[in-house]
Amino acid sequence: MLMKEIKLDTILYVFEHHNDLPEQVQWLMNQAVEAREKAYAPYSRFKVGAAVLLNNGSVVLGSNQENAAYPSGLCAERTAVFAAGANYPEEEIRCICISGTSDLKETAEPIPPCGACRQSLLEYELKQKKNIPVYFMGKSGMVIKSSSVQNLLPYIFKEENL
Ligand code: THU
Repeated sequence: MLMKEIKLDTILYVFEHHNDLPEQVQWLMNQAVEAREKAYAPYSRFKVGAAVLLNNGSVVLGSNQENAAYPSGLCAERTAVFAAGANYPEEEIRCICISGTSDLKETAEPIPPCGACRQSLLEYELKQKKNIPVYFMGKSGMVIKSSSVQNLLPYIFKEENL
C-alpha cells in the first residue's frame, strides 16, 4: 500500500508542585482554584475552575456549570474563555490556568482540558496569532504546562478547512 506517515509531536512540561510555577502563573492558578469552588456541579460533583489572563491585566474566571439536561451544561474553560471573548473582544489572552477536583475521589493528577474546550481555546489562539500557554492541575500539587493550545490539539480543524 502506498502511504506516508505523519508524526504528530506534543511536548508537555511538568512542574512537580504548583509552588514551582513562575510567580504570576502561580497567582493565576490560585484564582483558578478559587473559581473552582464556585462551580455548579451537583450531578458530577467534579469541580473545575479556569482563570484567563488578558493582555490588559484583567483576569476572567470560569467554572463548570451543569444542567439537569446534562449536555446543556458547560465546562469551566469554555465558560471562562467565552466570557473573556464577550467582555473583552479586543484583548489578547496571555495564559490560562485550570484546576479540577472531585468531591468523590482524590484528584492528584493534573486535569487536562476536554477536546471541545481545546477546540474552543484554539479559536482564540488562531484569532490572536499568538500562543496561549495552558497550565492544568488537579486539586493541588503537580501542574502540566502546554506552551500552546495547538500543541494539545495537533492536526487541527480550522477556518481554512471551511
Ligand atoms: N469539565 C470541565 O469543566 N472541564 C473539562 O475540561 C472537563 C470536564 C466539567 C464538565 C462537567 O461539569 C464535569 O466536569 C464532569 O465532566
